[in-house]
This record gives sequence, structure tokens and C-alpha cells, in this order.
Amino acid sequence: MAFPQSFLDELTARSDIVDVVSGYVQLTRKGANLFGLCPFHSERTGSFSVSPDKQIYYCFGCKKGGGVVNFIMEEENLPFPDAVRFLAKRAGMEVPEEEGDLEAGRRRQRLLALNRDAARFYYQLLQQPEGRAVQDYLDRRGIRKATAVKFGMGASPDAWDGLLSAMVRKGYTKSELLTAGLAVQNRNGGLYDKFRNRLMLPVIDTRGDVVAFGSRVLDRSEPKYMNSSETPVYSKRRVLYGLNLAKKTKRPNLILCEGNLDIVTLHQAGFDNAVASMGTALTVEQTRLLSRFTKELILCYDNDGAGKTATERALQILNGSEFSVKVLQLPRRLVDGAYVKQDPDDFIKFQGPDAFERLLNGSENGVEFRMAQVAEKYDLTSDEARVAYCEEVSRLLSSLPGAVEREIYTTRAAEIAQISPEAMRLEVQRAFKRRARQEARTELRRDLNPAVRTQPQERSLRYANIRSARAEEGILRLLLLDDSLFPQDPPLEESQFSSPLLGRVYALLWQTRAEGRPVALGPILGTLTPEEAGHISALCQQPESAQNARQALADYIRIVKTEADRRAGGDADPLLAATEKYKQGGKRHV
Ligand code: UTP
Ligand code: MN
Repeated sequence: MAFPQSFLDELTARSDIVDVVSGYVQLTRKGANLFGLCPFHSERTGSFSVSPDKQIYYCFGCKKGGGVVNFIMEEENLPFPDAVRFLAKRAGMEVPEEEGDLEAGRRRQRLLALNRDAARFYYQLLQQPEGRAVQDYLDRRGIRKATAVKFGMGASPDAWDGLLSAMVRKGYTKSELLTAGLAVQNRNGGLYDKFRNRLMLPVIDTRGDVVAFGSRVLDRSEPKYMNSSETPVYSKRRVLYGLNLAKKTKRPNLILCEGNLDIVTLHQAGFDNAVASMGTALTVEQTRLLSRFTKELILCYDNDGAGKTATERALQILNGSEFSVKVLQLPRRLVDGAYVKQDPDDFIKFQGPDAFERLLNGSENGVEFRMAQVAEKYDLTSDEARVAYCEEVSRLLSSLPGAVEREIYTTRAAEIAQISPEAMRLEVQRAFKRRARQEARTELRRDLNPAVRTQPQERSLRYANIRSARAEEGILRLLLLDDSLFPQDPPLEESQFSSPLLGRVYALLWQTRAEGRPVALGPILGTLTPEEAGHISALCQQPESAQNARQALADYIRIVKTEADRRAGGDADPLLAATEKYKQGGKRHV
């Protein structure tokens, strides 16, 4: 974050938040603010607000908020410096690159180059006699040469320092090899290759950079798969295996699987739209990445307990999002009188691509998947179980927001339970009303409880002293409302604030003022975490009257001072009082 402050000020001044957000969200004016459908969560009524005066956005639904830089970070899935560059390009501004930035950028480039050279090394080894074992393994699994080349597959040598010495010869340092996660350090400080005698699967991002490696053993030993750890160029939450290829597919959707080799087999069989999350649950970051390429997803996780849980979690993340989601459930296969699960790789091998294409076309949507999950729990030949089934399935159906959708699946559920559609409809209506009542009650409780209303969502930001924090919020709002309210000297110390976050923002506002820069929230929000930015945006969205502002500010300051004195005086031990101030608010009891 080494951009000069004056540059950031000008950038935010030249990137009007309404203009920028309008590129993504359709906004309608309501009073002083503009509203639209939140791009960060799914909703049918717009709770996403943009304030042209304060140059901030805030969603009353998902509580995300911030300035224009935060918006681009969130929406374009970019780290701070990249979001700044993105906006600079948009505003036609030249980005001053600082020494520190150049240095960090250079280190990243070195790591990417090292990864690429390592991938080449593994790839070449696969073509040589030392790669024989891996080549045999690929043959056994029916992976063709062209497919292996397309995925850039390779072989890691059956030695402790094969890659290590090759890369050191190329001029990479041991510390670079460690940082890239390609070498591991033993207790005596010596280095050795992390990947040995394995099938190497480079993980390539959508820009075409090798960011990491997956790898598989050639026999039954453990661990079966070994992947790169997180590095400065690799965060597994933000990458999907195979997306570098799948992004070019002509098919209308993307298929999401669990395993790397499932992807390989699917691509080989003509399903070049398959990607894998490499054994982790689907993340929000990954859905954002996917949304650049498609709005249609097919979940194809394994047909076992873990796979079903993964499906359910993915459905929750995608619930009501811009994606249309389907679930493809692979049938189990009868082996020696027992049914065993199949993954896409097994299915293609035993049933062939045509059968997979048929499953793809017939795959069910999320509601059907969940209904089947409920039905599976009950033996529907018994009356008692049918009653229980109706109860549970009606709870599920009552959660569907669309009336038509509810009606269609209600009829379907009635068929499954073999009861009349009317009876099922009544049951769903009852569940629907119960749900509405419950939601209204929770909302009421929330509205009636001012402490809950003003408390930050994030646990670590929770206020320790509500009375003081409310006044601290008021001070920030007023200073932002009208900068002529700033007294000559700071009336409070940062440390007098009961909330470390509010104190920090206050200090930043003063610093801005002292440096003679325009006092605005945007540049400050860009330096905060998403949770912090969301909270500050939320409280700044609340109205603060410009009338009697001076008096109000004086009152707020008095409250903060009194509470700070009380805290300091209440603690006999001054050292304790000092440390107390720096503790995170949530851990302290008032
Ligand atoms: P599976 O165990 O289902 O493997 O793990 P698979 O893809 O069917 O593998 P094959 O067919 O035996 O080769 C699914 C995915 O979970 C991750 C890998 O990305 C794997 O592809 N995984 C699995 C790990 O990261 N570590 C492990 O030890 C196992
Ligand atoms: Mn498999």
C-alpha cells in the first residue's frame, strides 16, 4: 500500500462511486441515496445503498460496505493495489509505482517464473526414462498423451533434491524454493524436494500463470494427493483447477467436481467445461471467479456422505445467487453385490461419455436434490413416516421464495408422499406462516434492542462500552458531515476512544485534516478490512442532523471523555488500565 496519499485522494475524487457502481448495479434514487440489488448477496428487493454525498456504499442485507476502492476489491475480487490500478485505468490516471511495490511485484514475478520452470522440469522428466513410472501410471488410468500435455502434467523425480539442484542451477535461491512451497526444510535446516516420485499436476490460473502444484502418488500410499501450501502467489480459496482450460469452453455451463483427475478424464471425454475445487468446499471467492465465465453451474460431487455435505454447502453459498444451479448425482455402481460410489472418472470409464451427457441433461436443480435428500430419510410405505416426511418437506418448501416454485414442488412432494396436493399445500402454507411469524419476531427483537443494532457484526469489533461507542460514532459522523466542525486541535486522543476501530478512524480523519487533504471517508475505508469497512459504512449511513451540530459534537466529546476517565479511574493499576485500552473490545466485560 505504498501509493502516495495525494494519488489515492485524487483517484477516489475522480472515481465517483455512483458512476463506478452503476457499471455493475442498476441504481434508482430514493431520497438522498440510490438503491439497487446487492451484487454481493442474492436478494429480490434492493437493500444495497449508495450515498453520493459520502461516497460510500452499504448493504442493509449482507452488511457489506465501504468506499469505491472497497467496492472494486469486493466485486472484481482484487487485492487493494490491483483495485487501485483498476480504478486508475478507468479514470485514465498514471499509477506511480513505489520502490516497495516494485520490489514485491518483482518477488511475485520471480516466484511465478520459478513455478513455471519447475513445471517445465517436471514435464521434461515425464518424457524421459526417469519418468517411466509416472507414464505407466497415466497409461493405467487411460490418460492420453495429448491430454497430459494439455494439462502440463509432469513427473517429480524419485530423489531428495532433483528439483532443488536443477532450480538452484537456474539461479533461484533456496529461500525462493521454500517460499514457493517446492522445497521443505528438515530439522537441521537442510532442504529437500517436497514432491518426489509423483504425478505432477500444475495448477494454472486464468491468466495462464502456474501458481501451484497438485500431485498424486503412484501407488496406494498416503497421502494420496499433496498440494502446494499457500504462497504469495497461491491462495486455494481463489483458484479452481482446470478453469484455465474450461474458461474457453463452448458449453453453456461449468461443471464443478471434487478431484483433479476427474477434471482430466472429463476434459478428455469432451467435457471441457469441468473444474475442481481440489478437495475443499466451494468458496465465495471461487463463485465470484466463476461468475466471470458463466451463470450456470452443475455440481457434480461424489455420491457419498462427504460429497452430499459439499453439495449442500455449495447450494447454500449459491442460494438465490445470480447462478442457476443444478446437481448431477452419479449413480452408485454394483460391485460384487454391493453398491459403491463412483466419481466422474469412474463413471466415464465404466459407462462412457454418452451416459454422462445424458446425466448432464437430466440433472436436477437444487430443490430437487434437497427434496430427494429428505425423501431418502423416510420409508414412505409407513403412514407414520409419510406424516413425518410431509412435515419436513413442507418446511423445506416453505423456504422457497417464489410462489410458482413453491406450487410446483408442493405438487411433486404430494406425489412422492401419495397424498392429495390440497393437503400438501395446506401443510406448506402453515409452515410458510410459521416461518414468516418467526422472522418477524427476530426482526422485532433486533429493532427493539439498540445494543444489538449498534454492535458491529464482527465479533472482534464488538463494542465494550456502548454509551461511549455511540458517542464516538456520532463524532465520526459529524466530522464527515461538515469539516468546518473540526476544532483547532484534536479534542480527544485516539486512546480515549473505547472502540479501537473508531479511534483509529478518528485519528486518520485528523491526520487527513492536518495534512490539508480533503476529509473523505473513501481513502480511509480502503485501508480497512472488509469487516471494518462494512461497519464504518453502516454507521456513517445513519443520519446525523446538521442542525445544532456544534452542540451535538460537544456533547459526544464530553461523553467519550467521561467514559474514558471512568475507565482509567476505575482501574487502580495504571499499567492494567493502559493495557486494557488496547485490548479488543469484545473480550472485555462492562
Ligand atoms: P479423492 O480421494 O476423491 O480422489 O479426492 P480422486 O480425485 O477420486 O482421486 P483418484 O481417482 O484416486 O486419483 C478428491 C480430491 O481431493 C483432494 C484432491 O484434490 C483430490 O483430487 N485431496 C484428496 C487432497 O488434496 N488430499 C488427499 O489426500 C486426498
Ligand atoms: Mn477418482
